[in-house]
Amino acid sequence: MDKYYVCQGCGHVEFDASPAKCPVCATPGDKYKEDAAAVNPAEKEGKEKHVPVILVTRECGLIPGECSDIHIKVGSTPHPMQEDHWIQWIDVYNNKKYVARHMLTPSMEPAVSIHIKRALTGKLQVIESCNKHGKWTAEAELL
Ligand SMILES: [Fe+2]
Repeated sequence: MDKYYVCQGCGHVEFDASPAKCPVCATPGDKYKEDAAAVNPAEKEGKEKHVPVILVTRECGLIPGECSDIHIKVGSTPHPMQEDHWIQWIDVYNNKKYVARHMLTPSMEPAVSIHIKRALTGKLQVIESCNKHGKWTAEAELL
């Protein structure tokens, strides 16, 4: 069972311990709160789909040889992106270490693609935040 520590400034989640300061918004680490229920389990998913779908591609068209492309879509059926109900951000981790945040607006599809160093191995974790239904997670293997 993962331990989650949540930034009270921006909602960013760290695994296993609070950081010295938030890597997203620089809120001091003592403002993080441990919350075992911070991230919803996939089984809680209802009609609207929130669990991220992750596609790892070894070949990158922009930076061949050095880069892996990670494509992330929120929901097996894409989550709504409406003014009052949307996916706010998608955070990506490698072996539980923070890699990147992508902010989304209702003008976007609930998806991002990122370029990571091909040398990264192990697991890739994704946590996304729906403004109405909270945070959801999924993980994939980096081959
Ligand atoms: Fe939602």
